[in-house]
Amino acid sequence: MNTENLISFDNVTVSFWQNNMGVHSIKDLVSHRKNPFTNKTILKNISFDVKRGECMGILGRNGSGKSTLLRTIAGLIKPQEGTMTINGTFAPILAIGAGLELELSGYENMNLLLSLYGKSRKDTNAIQSIVEFSELSDEVLRMPTKRYSSGMLARLAFSISVANDSDILIIDEILAVGDQGFQVKCMEKIYQVKAEGKTILFVSHFPDDVVKICDTAILLENGVISHRGDAKIICEQYKSLF
Ligand SMILES: Nc1ncnc2c1ncn2[C@@H]1O[C@H](COP(=O)(O)OP(=O)(O)O)[C@@H](O)[C@H]1O
Ligand SMILES: [Mg+2]
Repeated sequence: MNTENLISFDNVTVSFWQNNMGVHSIKDLVSHRKNPFTNKTILKNISFDVKRGECMGILGRNGSGKSTLLRTIAGLIKPQEGTMTINGTFAPILAIGAGLELELSGYENMNLLLSLYGKSRKDTNAIQSIVEFSELSDEVLRMPTKRYSSGMLARLAFSISVANDSDILIIDEILAVGDQGFQVKCMEKIYQVKAEGKTILFVSHFPDDVVKICDTAILLENGVISHRGDAKIICEQYKSLF
């Protein structure tokens, strides 16, 4: 593995303003004496490095901040404190129910995401590789994605992610909903991407998959990295939470 850091986080803190008092209109707002918005810290003092070619697992309970961390890495969220350095290009982050435009068809989503991530819409090789990998029919790919099952969405999302020739592949729990055949195919593809020397960030609730793919891992608990190190050891820590 290369020693160059592709991703460096130094004391990064991310917080959101949340409306916790059911205020949905201006009338609600003026009838409230107090400010209904509270500032909630989601990620606290996060520090870690990922080397080029490293595959890092991100584990943690629901709501512990995994997706927020990925979205921060991808530049979709700006941290309030700390510094982060990213030295590579990304595949789009496609999580279950996020990243795809549900009013658009499968083909339209492919075109949109390919052009957003720097590929030409007319890149017929990329389109063909997405279609082939997804094993979705032409009829399905013409339908709005809001009519897809969660497994069909996962097929499309994963296929688009791996069609991008970027330095960093980000996988946020999309494998869990595919059928077994597709899961096996995705794992094989991830091994191949890893063998090509790409960097992978892998969020999964299946420690066995994390151990198979990842070299290192972090465990997030309430927005804090509670454990960080060898993937096998961190997976044991994760299992001991339940
Ligand atoms: N855009 C947002 N605005 C306000 N709160 C958010 C936003 N995105 C995530 N959160 C909150 O951040 C916390 C962590 O969420 P998330 O990163 O999705 O967790 P995980 O992926 O580990 O399940 C949750 O409490 C969630 O409600
Ligand atoms: Mg998540």
